[in-house]
Amino acid sequence: MKRIGVLTSGGDAPGMNAAIRAVVRQGIALNMEVYGIQRGYEGLLDGDIEKMESYSVGDILQRGGTMLRTARSKRFLEDKWIDHAAKMLETFGIEGLVVIGGEGSFKGGNELSKRGVKVMGVPGTIDNDLGYTDYSIGFDTAVNTILGLITNIRDTSSSHERSTIIEVMGRNCGDLALYAGLAGGADVIMIPEVDMDIKEVCRRVLRGQRSGKAHSLILKAEGVQMDAAELAKVLEEMTSREARTVVPGYIQRGGSPTEADRRLASQTAAKAVQLLYDDTPSRAIGVQEGQIISVELAKAIEMKREFRRDIYELAEILA
Ligand code: F6P
Repeated sequence: MKRIGVLTSGGDAPGMNAAIRAVVRQGIALNMEVYGIQRGYEGLLDGDIEKMESYSVGDILQRGGTMLRTARSKRFLEDKWIDHAAKMLETFGIEGLVVIGGEGSFKGGNELSKRGVKVMGVPGTIDNDLGYTDYSIGFDTAVNTILGLITNIRDTSSSHERSTIIEVMGRNCGDLALYAGLAGGADVIMIPEVDMDIKEVCRRVLRGQRSGKAHSLILKAEGVQMDAAELAKVLEEMTSREARTVVPGYIQRGGSPTEADRRLASQTAAKAVQLLYDDTPSRAIGVQEGQIISVELAKAIEMKREFRRDIYELAEILA
């Protein structure tokens, strides 16, 4: 394979730039030409495609976001536009594509794969909701950002003896709340994988209060269908304490990537390029038990994420 493309798609994640850098430099090292595609599938449809050189990716390793920009393409959900995208790649002579993104981006990649393009998926999403890989690029940075927020919030929450509800990202997967909850010592972790009603949250906060806790921290994933403001109101009624809510929002998605994310990005992206160089059919690259692995792209999309109940239960014991 002589010419490959790279794009980032869906929500940006810290470490995507490190992945782009690895695609470009590994590609050049293997004597391939690498083309950068702007704004994900949107830029592909519009032919917003340019050749990248080694210097194009200088000084981006430490930056969050994505230098190629990203988008959630609505057009790409339609067959006629996917056909158009496949033709566009043909026009540019691009035989293989590295897609850096989450589930939706991989599904788009799989459609291109059905049209004869070799597509390698590199996992980039802070939600960590891809089933075939233990971690995705951006998750570690986001968890550490949330941890920093918890540390700050603890100061004020304990000083005022309040309950504080922190609502973090994660629509279908509660990993951000789960991992930050264990490491940050949350009293209650509310995630989509575990049903918990408002009364149970109050019971747990009251239990902590009776055992002498000065304040309570509740970490709630956005995918849990319970309004944070409503929960705060009920908590105030049921306990003798004031309650506050914090929704950090996009703060979680930005920032300089951690070492773990830069390494995961560099290794998975370089592996994706190597697989394209070897003319391997479409795959998704990831990490399992510390080893870089790859899974057939169509299968990777189907794999359901396994819930880490052990982490959840440990967090409960240690709370
Ligand atoms: O990238 C995933 C995610 O962060 C979700 O947790 C969140 O719900 C969503 O993106 C928000 O994305 P946007 O508002 O940029 O479409």
